Formats: sequence, C-alpha cells, structure tokens
Amino acid sequence: MLEIGHAELVEFTRFIRLNFGINLEAKHKLVEGRLGNYILEAGFTSFSEFLEYAYNDTSGKEWPRLIERLTTNHTYFFRESAHFDFMAQTVLPQLEKSITNRDIRIWSAGCSSGEEPYSIAMVLAQHFGLAGSLWDKRILATDISARVLETARAGRYPASALEELPARYKSQYFKKLAGDQFEIVPQLRDEVIYRLLNLIHDEFPFRSRFHVIFCRNVMIYFDPETKNDLVDRFYDWTEPGGYLFIGHTETINRQDSRWRYIRPAVFQKPY
Ligand SMILES: C[S@@+](CC[C@H](N)C(=O)[O-])C[C@H]1O[C@@H](n2cnc3c(N)ncnc32)[C@H](O)[C@@H]1O
Repeated sequence: MLEIGHAELVEFTRFIRLNFGINLEAKHKLVEGRLGNYILEAGFTSFSEFLEYAYNDTSGKEWPRLIERLTTNHTYFFRESAHFDFMAQTVLPQLEKSITNRDIRIWSAGCSSGEEPYSIAMVLAQHFGLAGSLWDKRILATDISARVLETARAGRYPASALEELPARYKSQYFKKLAGDQFEIVPQLRDEVIYRLLNLIHDEFPFRSRFHVIFCRNVMIYFDPETKNDLVDRFYDWTEPGGYLFIGHTETINRQDSRWRYIRPAVFQKPY
C-alpha cells in the first residue's frame, strides 16, 4: 500500500473540505486506504506526484472521480420508505390541491444511480394514476458523479436491486430484459432529468423553485457550516408549503433554521 505522510493528508483533507464541503479530516485512515489504491492504479508512484497532477488538473474530471472514491454511492429503491409513505399520504394530496397550474417539481439532490428519483416517479404514478397525463411532473436528479448518472440514465438494474419492491411495482414499472436485468419503463424514465451538479460549489442553475427536495444521505460528510449553508439554499429554492427530506441519520439545527420540523427527517417551508 502507498504510504501517505501525515502533513500531506492534512493538506489534502483540508483542500477537500474547503472545496467540496466534505470533512474527512478525522478519517485519515479511510482516505489513506481508498486513495492509496486509486493512486497506484492510476500509475503514480507517490502521493505528492499525484497531488501535483490533481491540483493542476484543468479537465474538471479528476476531483469528481476522487470524491467518488472517497464517498459512497450506496442507494436502493424506496430507501427509508417512511418518506415515500409520507409523500403518498400527505405531501401529494396537499400539492394536488395547492398547485393550480398542474406543474409539480421535485428535486433529488445527490441521486446516485437513480433508485431515489425512480422511487419518487413510482409514487407519483401511483398517486395520480390516469390523471397523471394532465400533470407536468418533473423530477430533476443531480449528482457530482458522472459515473452514477450514466447508470441512472440507462435505468437498468439487476434483479437483485428489485427484490424488495412490491410485485405490482416491478410488473408495472419495469421491463424484463435478457439475462438478469430489468429496465425502468420509458414513461417514468422520461419524467426524470439527470444533471451533473456539485451541490457545494456550483450555482444552482434553476429557473423555478421546487415543491419537494430530497437530499438524503449526501450531507453526512459535509461539515456543519457547509451543511447549514446548503440547507439554507434549499430553503430559498423551495416553494412556500414545500418540503425537504433528509436522511434519517442526518440532522438540521432547528434553532437556527427557517425550516419547520414536521417529523423525523422531514421539514416544511412555511406558507
Ligand atoms: C449515499 S448516496 C445517496 C443516494 C440517495 N440520495 C439515497 O439516499 O439513497 C450519496 C450521493 O451523494 C453524491 N454527492 C456527494 N457529494 C456531493 C456533492 N458535493 N454534490 C453533489 N452530489 C454529491 C455522491 O456522489 C452519491 O451519489
């Protein structure tokens, strides 16, 4: 394994925190392990040689690739299912009444390989049924990793990824392909728009606000300041009465935040 000096690790993790909001400063062992393999595979002989390359990279690709190695893309359909129940039972009936132009906008921020936005699309399809064609249902799904977005766009998953799905969802919303693969039906795939976006650094390039934002299991590595700032920006990009869903292991400081706490990991922007 590649040896990485303490001072280099300090400098590197500081750079990552300042530029990506991801705090790995207490996780030197993890960084050393994951990064060491990555650097050797890429053909570099020392950490400093690699750093010089990375700091001077102008392609814009090296850092997202690295972040991908250092964080996790783990996800699955209907993860934290209480959120989807709450969507179906409370949020959608409310939005159906309050949105007069039938234009519903949802953002899955840190969508990974697509299981989260497609779960949202399935809940919408179940809720609206045939009347769904009268609605403009748009789900924006963004991630910092081009690799996971490629999988998400393709919408193809192995049978094992669908094991926990109710049978009717599997038959209604997936087409069986050759081998062990299933593909999300085009009606749902076309409702999701995928974009590469770094939540920390990039300006949000949107024209209108969202009714619901999902940002779950993404902010776990962010330091408190970065997280608070992001949660604040989400607020500004949410319609009054709209919702923010975060991961159940994540928290928002309720005293300092404008969000109204509704139930675990669910917040609402007051009307
Ligand atoms: C653990 S997955 C969570 C996926 C899904 N939201 C869920 O809860 O199952 C975290 C995702 O956040 C993405 N991510 C991490 N830092 C990011 C950043 N600064 N900007 C955008 N996406 C980021 C990762 O690439 C990864 O796909």
